[in-house]
Amino acid sequence: MSADHTRAPVLEALADYHRKERMSFTPPGHKQARGADPAVREVLGDAVFLGDVLATGGLDDRLTRGRVLERAEELMADAVHADRTFFTTCGSSLSVKAAMLAVAGPHEKLLIGRDAHKSVVSGLILSGIEPVWVEPRWDAERHLAHPPSAAAFEEAFEAHPDAKGALITSPTPYGTCADLGAVAELCHRRSVPLIVDEAWGAHLPFHPDLPSWAMDAGADICVTSIHKMGSGLEQGSVFHLQGDLVPADLLQMRSDLLGTTSPSVLLYAGLDGWRRQMALHGRELMGGALEVAAEVRAAVEGIDGMHVNDRDDFCGAGLAMDMDPLPCVIDIDALGITGYQAADWLREHRDIDMHLTDHRRIGAQLTHADDRETAGQLLAALKDLADAATELRPAPRVEVPSPPELRMTQACLPRDAFFGPAENVPVSEAAGRVAAEMITPYPPGIPAVLPGERLTEPVLRYLVTGLEAGMNLPDAADSRLETIRVAARDFA
Ligand SMILES: Cc1ncc(COP(=O)(O)O)c(C=O)c1O
Repeated sequence: MSADHTRAPVLEALADYHRKERMSFTPPGHKQARGADPAVREVLGDAVFLGDVLATGGLDDRLTRGRVLERAEELMADAVHADRTFFTTCGSSLSVKAAMLAVAGPHEKLLIGRDAHKSVVSGLILSGIEPVWVEPRWDAERHLAHPPSAAAFEEAFEAHPDAKGALITSPTPYGTCADLGAVAELCHRRSVPLIVDEAWGAHLPFHPDLPSWAMDAGADICVTSIHKMGSGLEQGSVFHLQGDLVPADLLQMRSDLLGTTSPSVLLYAGLDGWRRQMALHGRELMGGALEVAAEVRAAVEGIDGMHVNDRDDFCGAGLAMDMDPLPCVIDIDALGITGYQAADWLREHRDIDMHLTDHRRIGAQLTHADDRETAGQLLAALKDLADAATELRPAPRVEVPSPPELRMTQACLPRDAFFGPAENVPVSEAAGRVAAEMITPYPPGIPAVLPGERLTEPVLRYLVTGLEAGMNLPDAADSRLETIRVAARDFA
């Protein structure tokens, strides 16, 4: 029987809960907003509290006999061509760790593209998995990384035939995509699974002009943040599973280690509603977003000093396989200011928040929620920024290492460096020492330094000059980066 995508089991159960005026003697203690502080109710609105009910023993019964969550997950799986889907409520930061734990264990190897998000590194620290880093495709001219090639994974498998699987990030936060079909194929030749961190790809299944998505490309597990490019609420994430290389019960068990026993029904409702919205209207909504994106890209290209990174810049031999045009990545190098200055100016003077910022770029994330009006406001603000750029110059200089200089050697397991004896040393004395912490420019959230890596001058200079220029390094132990946390002993 084909799935009925007009249904939304979580939303229907919630409506039923309200219709019956259920009375709970259970958490949450605000009990349908009645107990919430009036001042909080005023700001949040009661809808937030009305949707916030206990999942088991509230929305569904004590033994979840209504299969509310299960039915919603089945519909999501159907919509993206997966065998199984699991909803989670702590972002893809949780989902990606669950996926990793289902594929490898302590001291087992996992091939991972080095342009991984910090949640992958957290997964390595918690699990004791040994990463085999696979080089991304570095664009030395533009100073950014695209997903590793299939050939790089093949080489890594040849050097490490005992690897339990592979993990790749696609799309990257810059919107560039890997050749997932080829990477999946070479994993499956070895009967090991491919995990795709598709945190940025919630929308991909719903329009043929968007890049191919992980389940269709043959990946085994795919992790997606529905709140990033989709209309889920913050923290609403899913992972999809297909094939028999990773047993569903094992994945569920490993995920259960990390999850909460009080999942948010609000987040479940957001996931369920997004799937229905996309199954019924996805093509039309994504088609509209693609049109707006094309217009915005063309208009930004016409602004003096701005260049929109397009397929010519990002795709082709030695670069990415494909790209998503919705993240509109704007190179402002010619304006002579940094992305940090540009983003701060737009927020302060035009009340506009940009997503991605780095030493020479700003990124405007466009979604199906945008239209000509929001696009017009963005474009007007960008023009004003271009006019104001002279006042912002000179840009502080960020000393960005060359691609080979960016790579440090992994001296020991991330877990051993993170949990082992450590000390804080002045940054001027840190080169040559083994890092015991993660240091991550955010966004996009790809650690420049991770525990177990042997620090080098160029990377330290990059971070220090970056911080002075306005880079956000939220996870560094010393937020001023005067000292760095390093392993007390050497791992030579
Ligand atoms: C590639 C990638 N993976 C995973 C995550 C974590 O997702 P979440 O913020 O939903 O926890 C992010 C977040 O930015 C990301 O960029």
